[in-house]
Amino acid sequence: MKNETPDVSPGMVSFEMIGTVAVLTIDNAPVNAGSHAVRAGLVQGIVQATAANATGTVLMGAGRCFVAGSDLREFGKPLAPPELPEVIRIIENTNFPVVAAMHGVALGGGLELSLGCDYRIAETDTKLGLPEVALGLVPGAGGTQRLPRLVGKQRAIEMICNAERLPAATALEYGLIDAVTEGDLLEEAIAFLRAQDRPKRLAIQIPPPNESPDAIEAAAVKALQRGKKRPNVAEAIRLVMSIGEHDADTALADERAVFQHLRFSEDAFALRYLFFSERAATSVDGLDMKLARNIESVGVVGGGTMGQGIVRAFLAAGLPVVLVERDQVALDSAIDKIDASLEALVAKGRLSAEQRKQRCAALAGAVEFSAISSCDLVIEAVFEEMSIKKDVLKRLEAELSPEAIIATNTSYLDIDNMVKDLVRPEQIIGLHFFSPADIMPLLEVVRTAKTSDRVLTTGIKLARKLDKQPIVARVAEGFIGNRIYAAYRRRAELLVLDGAMPEQVDAAVTGFGFAMGPFAVADMSGLDIAWAMRKRQAPTRDPEARYVTIPDSLCEAGRLGRKTGKGWYDYSEGTARPDPGVDAIIAAARAEAGIRAVSYTAEAIQRQLMTTIVNEATCLLDEGVAQRPSDVDVALTNGYGFPRWCGGPLYWASKQERSVLEADLEALSKAIGHGFKAGPVADILNQIDTFQES
Ligand code: NAI
Repeated sequence: MKNETPDVSPGMVSFEMIGTVAVLTIDNAPVNAGSHAVRAGLVQGIVQATAANATGTVLMGAGRCFVAGSDLREFGKPLAPPELPEVIRIIENTNFPVVAAMHGVALGGGLELSLGCDYRIAETDTKLGLPEVALGLVPGAGGTQRLPRLVGKQRAIEMICNAERLPAATALEYGLIDAVTEGDLLEEAIAFLRAQDRPKRLAIQIPPPNESPDAIEAAAVKALQRGKKRPNVAEAIRLVMSIGEHDADTALADERAVFQHLRFSEDAFALRYLFFSERAATSVDGLDMKLARNIESVGVVGGGTMGQGIVRAFLAAGLPVVLVERDQVALDSAIDKIDASLEALVAKGRLSAEQRKQRCAALAGAVEFSAISSCDLVIEAVFEEMSIKKDVLKRLEAELSPEAIIATNTSYLDIDNMVKDLVRPEQIIGLHFFSPADIMPLLEVVRTAKTSDRVLTTGIKLARKLDKQPIVARVAEGFIGNRIYAAYRRRAELLVLDGAMPEQVDAAVTGFGFAMGPFAVADMSGLDIAWAMRKRQAPTRDPEARYVTIPDSLCEAGRLGRKTGKGWYDYSEGTARPDPGVDAIIAAARAEAGIRAVSYTAEAIQRQLMTTIVNEATCLLDEGVAQRPSDVDVALTNGYGFPRWCGGPLYWASKQERSVLEADLEALSKAIGHGFKAGPVADILNQIDTFQES
């Protein structure tokens, strides 16, 4: 399509006339974040369109998307006018129809901007949503008032509170957009405007559709529960529910006031910190991420619990996979299980039959390593046993091309030792997935002493392709996450030895905001895994260090967790119940160790466990295992259930009164006793970059 007038507006929104239609293009690379300059440019563009007697206006984004959201860097400070509601008011007050023509993503303030337009069209692969709740906020530019008028209150509550991203087809079905386009977006937008001589049509004036009040109420109850009753979630629900109670201006002013208040809430600061931390974690200081190569085919060796999940994760990312197992029986069983889990996804409506077909077609199985000789990357997920892993890596190295990357999914083993006898150790990397590997968002990318920069950057890039949150670690027992978790679990067990009950510890931890406490988690994963690790470590364990025998006694009694119906709890009636058998084991352990039980408040338990995490994290940073404090926060919130609204353990600690933290550390040191290693907590906390000034 040809420009008939040159671009006349400088800045981040360009203006052009195509016939009688004005076209405003937002151009703020990389994602057209709605900054002050963008808002000012939009107002200027509307003024120009009015002056040019435009019969209609198309609003679109340059580059890879429409608008990915407002510029979060502005959210911790006073916002410079015009603010977004003002921009939207100006768009609504024009005397010509405005159509938002969207592609890529239209999120947050971007979607709200489109809701202020008269019409919305989107390319097929556009994703639309209001993720503000995930940032501790509510939509603040009319999202809670305009969206429900188009899609209904029930769906609006679900979309807003779950921070959903709708594909364009679903958005069309819900009535959020008016058309899905497949051709040239701008041409289609202009044709759309001209097609029926579109009148002005303000979303804010449309009455919400008729819905069952019970269905709305049920959606609200569920959303609040899922949102852990955080204040912003409750406010978002209240704002949506209140539509119709007041005139639109009053309701919009109410929403804006809530937004302005929440912007400065502790949750919002913590969640913005995490937002920037998660982005920072995708790079390695001093490394050019452009070194990374594309991975186009993968092999997975070992089709057990992890191997199956890893295969599903690769297939979901559109990569062809060859799975290698020890023998045909194990291979058939693994492939059957992968098939069944894909079928289950179809049954739940999360995958289309066509997608399942594509994924099944992209998976091949083999019992010979020769089947993976042409893969770009092969990951092993065989038994956690050094000699087996060494043998597998050696055979892989002999089979694969010199450029191929070999990854290990080991949880705890020393990868530096694992690669010692290899010819090309620089090609080896740790890719530590969490279970279930296709669901859990965290992926630890482990660099050995020899891993090349190209292999490391490729590992990070691959994580992004899998839609995972990467975090770079150096080799250490348990890397970042499991090492911290081991210290946390040990502290929890010591609390039980010293007087707390498992259910009391778990309740304190869920009260802090975790989804589960350490003992419920242990029962879920199976107590035998840690038991095996303790046995492995037994010969080198310091005999002077305090040791809690309770988990060993539980295992010896056949109480391996949920899978045996009993562990720290009794599951014979379905749910976890405290068990007198466990109480007896605990009492015996206390008697044996000569301990007189003391009582703990929930707060004391919480503070001891959080301080343990903080101390261990600072030890890891001191040793260089983790790159930056914020990476630890990313790991714990993405892989271990640390409540996101606290920002992660180190961010949380940076907000604590220093004297209280010091007293907690002192108590921790006493409780652990011999062998306690204090990390440089104060130094590390001083380094926390809260990203407020950037
Ligand atoms: P698993 O015991 O369920 O599966 C191991 C699979 O490897 C078995 O199917 C076995 O037949 C196969 N296998 C063994 N030797 C093989 C060989 N030479 N060639 C081909 N296949 C072979 O174990 P799981 O739980 O899947 O763990 C695998 C690895 O992942 C371990 O290193 C483990 O530490 C790690 N990991 C486990 C997590 C978990 O939650 N289970 C989490 C993160 C990592």
